[in-house]
Formats: sequence, structure tokens, C-alpha cells
Amino acid sequence: MSSLPYQHGRGCFITIEGTEGVGKTTNIAYIRQCLNDHGIEPVMTREPGGTDLAESIRVLLLEPRVEPMAEMTELFLIFAARAQHLVQKIKPALDTGQWVLCDRFTDATYAYQGGGRLLDKNTIGNLENLVQGALRPDLVLILDIEPEIGLQRARQRGDPDRFEQETLHFFRRVRAAYLQRVVQDPDRYLIIDAGQPLDDVQRQIKVGLQAFLLNRHPL
Ligand code: TMP
Repeated sequence: MSSLPYQHGRGCFITIEGTEGVGKTTNIAYIRQCLNDHGIEPVMTREPGGTDLAESIRVLLLEPRVEPMAEMTELFLIFAARAQHLVQKIKPALDTGQWVLCDRFTDATYAYQGGGRLLDKNTIGNLENLVQGALRPDLVLILDIEPEIGLQRARQRGDPDRFEQETLHFFRRVRAAYLQRVVQDPDRYLIIDAGQPLDDVQRQIKVGLQAFLLNRHPL
């Protein structure tokens, strides 16, 4: 499609979430392709990371170390990276009408730090308001899979990072916290059953995205 029907005004902010080994990389490429088919070329980015400084914070967060990282250290590092990412990349893109497609965002904090680490959701909410103001994703795609299956896949990829070393119980809590997010605000979320064959997963994504696009810009 050659026209750019969605490029005026503030851009849309779409995030992709899920537990380990859920197939985010493949499906993010597919989401980008779907958006391209509608004349949208999104800014591609990820969390933690997305800028030079935020990527340095990502290394601190992911690399396994002998000294255990305190939960609050982890939480503040995540929001420090996010603050940088928002100011340097996400907000400028949205403000100039570009769309942003981000591999994980604050729903991951509610899932991993809230669900996985059992940190207080109000603390996360306070940091969210402080760092983001009113900014929230317009659409969150949650790729959902049984953590057992996802972890097996993730661990085949090589040395596990600090999060991938967590227990199955941890990832069950992460998954439950993601699903809880959807219940609280169903309009902004799209759950994809990522345990299905790839064709079927991508069909679900396409249908969901088309509904979102149509809803924002009825013909
Ligand atoms: P990735 O492997 O999907 O790139 O994500 C890196 C890890 O960071 C992943 O295991 C989840 C974790 N993470 C959090 O714990 N909280 C967050 O807010 C974000 C964005 C990621």
C-alpha cells in the first residue's frame, strides 16, 4: 500500500510482551510487516535498552553476577533505562507522528518485578507515573505460552541471562501477572495464543492489528 493514512498527529505506541521463549523476535518482524502493509514504517526499539545509555543499563540488568542484585536496584535500573529511552527516542518519535513498535515496556515491569519478584504494584505504579507521566501504550500484544514450553526454547538458545535463570514458579507468576493486566484494562490488550503453529499465531496477530487500525481510523 503506498498511502500513509495513519501518519498525521501523534504516532501510535505499540508494545509486545510475553514470557521467555515465546517467539517475540519472529512475531515482531511480522507485526512490522503488517504495519508496512498499511503504509506505516514504525520506529523499532526494545526495553530495557533502545538508546546507547539504556543499552548499557540493559547489560547491567541481564548479566549474571555473583553479587545478587537487590530487587529495588533492579526496579530502579529498569525505570532509569526507561526514562532515558522515553526522552531520547520514544517521545520524540511519537511527537513527530511516527509509530513506535517496542519489544517490552512497563507491562513487563508489572509482570516480572510485580508478579515474578512480588514487588508492590503501587510502587511500580508510582514510578510509572513519575517517569512516563500519562504516556501508556496504545496497544499491547501479549504473546502467551505455557512457561514450561517457553523456557525450554529459551534455554536452547545458549547461556541463560539473569532472568532466564529464574525458576518455573517465577515464570508462572510472570505469566499470571500479564494475564491480570489484561483483565484490568481489556481494551488496550490483545492476547495471542503463541502455543499454536506459527501460521496460526500470525493469523491472530493480523486480525487483531486490523481491528485496532480500523478502530482508530474508521474508513
Ligand atoms: P528480552 O530477553 O525479551 O530482551 O528481555 C530482557 C529481560 O528483561 C527479560 O527477561 C524480561 C526482563 N525485563 C524485566 O524484568 N522488566 C522489564 O520492565 C523489562 C522491560 C524487561
